[in-house]
Amino acid sequence: MNIRQFMINKGFGLSNRLLEKISPGKARLWCALRSAKNYNMVEKENEKFFVQIYMHHIRERIRKIFGEDRISILDAGCGQGRISVPLAMEGYDVTGVDVSSQAIEYASKYSEDKGVTVRLSICDIERGLEALIGNTFHCVISMEVLYMVKDYQKAISDMVRLLKCPGILIISLRPRLYYTLFHLMHNNIEVAKKLAIDNDVYLQRGFQNCHNADEITDLLIRNDLKDVELRGIGVLSGIEGDPQGLFSIPSQLSENDMETLLRMELKLGDRFIENGRYILASAIRI
Ligand SMILES: C[S@@+](CC[C@H](N)C(=O)[O-])C[C@H]1O[C@@H](n2cnc3c(N)ncnc32)[C@H](O)[C@@H]1O
Repeated sequence: MNIRQFMINKGFGLSNRLLEKISPGKARLWCALRSAKNYNMVEKENEKFFVQIYMHHIRERIRKIFGEDRISILDAGCGQGRISVPLAMEGYDVTGVDVSSQAIEYASKYSEDKGVTVRLSICDIERGLEALIGNTFHCVISMEVLYMVKDYQKAISDMVRLLKCPGILIISLRPRLYYTLFHLMHNNIEVAKKLAIDNDVYLQRGFQNCHNADEITDLLIRNDLKDVELRGIGVLSGIEGDPQGLFSIPSQLSENDMETLLRMELKLGDRFIENGRYILASAIRI
């Protein structure tokens, strides 16, 4: 990081802390918009690796319930279209919403470049999903979004309401272990203890949340969902800054090694659910 970037980040941190005192909701939104602007999930080599794991599991889950039918899918917090566009390329009828207009603009160009249609619109999933008509989608996905949504429980209930019967909910959330390790790496033993022992769900003044496997299962069962399946995503590798990034970083590997890592991730993700960068959870509305 150069000095200019460092100063920009410092300035952002200070103004965000100030905004947080006046309006925590706006501060959270500002953070989300900034990361969607500065971090392109479609173009980053590491994210291209992790999307393959998501696509594998999403495909498998959909096929188990709907076979080869080209069902309707809502991607809540679609970002730049990292998952929506590949799903549309496989023939699914995809709608994507995100709070960031810049991400939606990119997703629109990305889908155009790939010659597919994704219905895209700007929407804050904390409030905006309420306005959509229920029983609309065969599948609702939301990857790497809910961990930064304050009222994630309401967002999940809203997503369930949008599902047809049968319908599949597929979401990813941050594991409790991820942030426990992250804070241990940074010598924040008190925060690590709150997550590991006191069962705190929220961290960073409510900006983020994390869960273990049982908590996620409960969350889904409370919404009357059945047949819960959980997987670890990125149990052997991560991006720089992730605890898992200490094991391996996909973009630093040769193509062959990346291929091997992918196979290992798919195999071990089933067994080490809580050890990854995210927990992928799916369940059925019957
Ligand atoms: C880490 S990215 C993941 C994007 C995409 N799901 C993927 O897997 O590539 C998180 C996305 O969530 C969006 N987001 C965060 N809070 C949101 C909210 N309240 N409503 C809608 N989108 C939100 C951000 O704008 C960002 O595009």
